[in-house]
Amino acid sequence: MKIIMLGAPGAGKGTQAKMLADKYAIPHISTGDIFRANIKNGTELGKKAKEYMDQGLLVPDELTCDLVVDRVKQEDCKNGYILDGFPRTIPQAECLDAALTEMGEKIDFAVNVEVPDENIVNRMSGRRACVACGATYHIVHIPTKVEGICDRCGKELILRDDDKPETVTKRLNVYHEQTQPLIEYYTKKGVLVEVDGTKDMNDVFNAIVEILGK
Ligand code: AP5
Repeated sequence: MKIIMLGAPGAGKGTQAKMLADKYAIPHISTGDIFRANIKNGTELGKKAKEYMDQGLLVPDELTCDLVVDRVKQEDCKNGYILDGFPRTIPQAECLDAALTEMGEKIDFAVNVEVPDENIVNRMSGRRACVACGATYHIVHIPTKVEGICDRCGKELILRDDDKPETVTKRLNVYHEQTQPLIEYYTKKGVLVEVDGTKDMNDVFNAIVEILGK
């Protein structure tokens, strides 16, 4: 099963993508995580991506498309994958479609996790992320057992640089301008499904599984 997660920054795409990847035993591919890993490792890609991410802007398509197309061609993707945070622009979607057509494949579902803007800033300021293993928490909704420490790997949690309120507002504007048009794009392709992302994360997960199939 090939799935795309759509939704505003902080809608819960990453949270759901990780749960779905476990359930369907397919890789979770997050462009945000790939860029953050490159930043952490000080690569050229990481240095370029950081300039845009810190401002709440999208990393240019030319740095993003080939990276994802190469990734979905890998052996572990042959039974499907979940794309989290990609595509984010119409040109990215067209680039993915062109590559999939060449491979004789197509996307099965584009899952739009809907959360109004007013809920987002609160979610982002409460998010804590583990840079070591990629796990995410929320200080109120999804707390860790020990404050500030990752349940999964025991490393320290951080507030992401781009989760500061002023950057979140910018990211929301960028989302409405550049990413929201993908909802119509995938509706026209007949693969869009929508879920209410304001519910408890397990309810959101169950609603998605209900649509995708057990
Ligand atoms: P990326 O890492 O993809 O960030 P994003 O899309 O802005 O999404 P987030 O990770 O912020 O949120 P999410 O929807 O995954 O929510 P989460 O599950 O964490 O991208 C970062 C940056 O990289 C971009 O701004 C851009 O610069 C660049 N980039 C990445 N991909 C790119 C691309 N394709 N092209 C160009 N640039 C790209 O949940 C949020 C919080 O809410 C957490 O604390 C979570 O615990 C909590 N939560 C989740 N679900 C619930 C729930 N149901 N109820 C209550 N709390 C919940």
